[in-house]
Amino acid sequence: MVRIAIFASSNGSNAENLINHFAGSPSVEVSLIVSNRVDAFVLERAARLGVESRYVPKSEFYSEDIFLPLLDDYKIDFIVLAGFLLKCPTFLLDKYPNRILNIHPSLLPKFGGKGMYGEHVHKAVLEAGESVSGITIHTIDDRYDCGTIIHQSECKVDSGETPLSLAAKIHELEKVYPQVVENYIGKMFNN
Ligand code: GRF
Repeated sequence: MVRIAIFASSNGSNAENLINHFAGSPSVEVSLIVSNRVDAFVLERAARLGVESRYVPKSEFYSEDIFLPLLDDYKIDFIVLAGFLLKCPTFLLDKYPNRILNIHPSLLPKFGGKGMYGEHVHKAVLEAGESVSGITIHTIDDRYDCGTIIHQSECKVDSGETPLSLAAKIHELEKVYPQVVENYIGKMFNN
């Protein structure tokens, strides 16, 4: 069984999709939700769906001596970032090489980098007059929104599009995330 931890900072719709997708899977289990925000709605979703969760404040997230033992306690093999706003420290990247995936709500390398999250991304896309946007699923390294691109899908930006309407289109595209994670893990762990 490959045991996943999902890291999420706020709403958690992607986390919920992932939990539902892997419920009953013979080979992959969502074993833990980690949030750096005590009031994140993802923690309520986890409780409702019966998945263990931990609030990990920033100071503990960046402490190797605290955070790695926590992941070890849950025997975590793989990490999925789903709306997680802290940059992962080197000790985490070293412990999970190519084993951390992220989803970003634009077609990277466009509209990535520090401060490019949520509505900021959609606003920037509209201000730049782009005719397409989309999502990128990628491995992470020690920079924001870099790493190897595993999957991208696109949507049209219509005239009169607002950050809100674009966000809704992007959330639709994001429903592919669990399947992409499953395929990636299947190749990596041969299951
Ligand atoms: C998603 O748009 C994701 O692409 C980005 O942050 C957002 C998180 O949404 N990284 P949610 O918390 O999963 O609802």
